[in-house]
Amino acid sequence: MPKAIITGASAGLGRELARIMAREGWALGLLARNQAALEALAGELGPSVKVRAADVTDADALPSHLDALAAELRGLDCMVVNAGVAPHNRKLAWEQERVTVATNVLGFVGCASWAARFFYQQKRGHIVGISSVAALSGSAAVPAYNASKAFASRYLDGLRANLGRFGIGVTDVRPGYVRTHMTEDQPGMFWVVDAETAARGIFRAIRRRAKVAYVPRRWVLIALMARLAPGRLYQKLSD
Ligand SMILES: NC(=O)c1ccc[n+]([C@@H]2O[C@H](COP(=O)([O-])OP(=O)(O)OC[C@H]3O[C@@H](n4cnc5c(N)ncnc54)[C@H](OP(=O)(O)O)[C@@H]3O)[C@@H](O)[C@H]2O)c1
Repeated sequence: MPKAIITGASAGLGRELARIMAREGWALGLLARNQAALEALAGELGPSVKVRAADVTDADALPSHLDALAAELRGLDCMVVNAGVAPHNRKLAWEQERVTVATNVLGFVGCASWAARFFYQQKRGHIVGISSVAALSGSAAVPAYNASKAFASRYLDGLRANLGRFGIGVTDVRPGYVRTHMTEDQPGMFWVVDAETAARGIFRAIRRRAKVAYVPRRWVLIALMARLAPGRLYQKLSD
């Protein structure tokens, strides 16, 4: 039975991905802060799903939470680094910027680098980072969010360069707009899909051990535009 940890599994994309992977026969370790939501999901998915309430911004405690989950699973094949926040922050309040960087940058590196060390020891494994098409440009409404996703994508490039020679896979998943708590009341969205549809796309990318995957695939067109079109046009799309 393949084994995976998913961070940010109490809601949204992480929860839907957990449902799909459990159905496909994976044993799962689920991590997020909301213990009641994690326990409800574990109750739904069965005994091969373990949970751990933890905050990815707590850099001191995070490695021991991840160690404990891997020990409960008796091994690990895949780490999905998904936990993230995107508070709207057009007024650039410090607290919103701080929380975004703490979660999406420090928390992301905490989880991904823990997995890199774990997989390096066993010389196999697969790290899956949930970045975003937001990685492709700056944003007026959520500047720290887009910057954090650019960081995540570049960090995953680095892990791939470092770990590829040991056969350890690294997948950078870049979803477009997905209907979740994160995007509630967000204006100006297009090509929006529900969380289950997006999670199916993420699982396909995991199965084929893609290097970079746009979810749904049509977002690759926006990625091309970001490269080719004048900045102002793309900026309009990313506000
Ligand atoms: N929705 C979109 O349109 C979209 C598009 C592209 C990329 N993404 C990315 O997809 C990922 C999931 O987003 P989503 O849309 O599913 O958002 P969501 O519904 O708000 O879920 C976010 C998840 O992250 C967890 N989380 C947040 N802060 C945490 C912390 N400090 N420690 C541990 N867990 C934490 C939350 O759990 P707790 O609150 O229980 O801790 C929750 O399980 C994020 O990385 C996001 O940037 C989303």
